[in-house]
Amino acid sequence: MNQWIDIHSHILPAVDDGSVSMGQTKNMLRIAHEEGINYIIATPHYGAGCRNPDQEELRSKLELVRQEAKQIDESFHIDLGNELFFSDDIIEHLRKKKALTLAGTRYILVEFASAEAYGIIKTGLHRLLIYGYLPILAHVERYECLYQNYEGIYEMLRIGAYMQMNISGILGKHADRKVTHCRKLIEYELVHILGTNSHSDYGRAPRMKEGLELIRKKYGDSVINKFLENSTKLLNNQYI
Ligand SMILES: [Fe+2]
Repeated sequence: MNQWIDIHSHILPAVDDGSVSMGQTKNMLRIAHEEGINYIIATPHYGAGCRNPDQEELRSKLELVRQEAKQIDESFHIDLGNELFFSDDIIEHLRKKKALTLAGTRYILVEFASAEAYGIIKTGLHRLLIYGYLPILAHVERYECLYQNYEGIYEMLRIGAYMQMNISGILGKHADRKVTHCRKLIEYELVHILGTNSHSDYGRAPRMKEGLELIRKKYGDSVINKFLENSTKLLNNQYI
């Protein structure tokens, strides 16, 4: 039975640098379903001051993608959010509901430039928390200032922020610095949610099975169950 929730996906067709067409989106849906995913939150990029796709356009495309998903499996759900590029203005955009939270919850998926300074990321996440949002840092493994900075990540957890990791990060040669880093993030329990951050039906496709199998083998069922529990809490708008 499919039970995985993917909270980071560029599956909506022709709205950002993700899927280029409904044809590709259909392939992505098929792959995601084969990989055990039954709930996708589509998260097109959004930046204050950028040319963002119209929300009406996003919602009409969401409807089309939902219909396609239903053709594959009646219980295959697709919802909407944004991957927010942080700037001070983003809070105003959220408050005016121009920028979207994840599936209507208080959770938001937020990214920074990968070379951003630690203080900027931590302060930014803190500001979002003050305004009542529950920020999830997108692809935690990507930031230079957080590379092997496990205490730094822990400090962000302590203020109430959450961490999302791209599941593809743990696959590859063990000697690879990124792979080693991602495995440490799991081992140290610094990741709340896994996502595919899929952009297409090849390359960055919505794959989870291989990564999940590796996590199960190396860290056990309890870690897998924790990820499932966390994503269910997110959808129910409960604290993780
Ligand atoms: Fe993304």
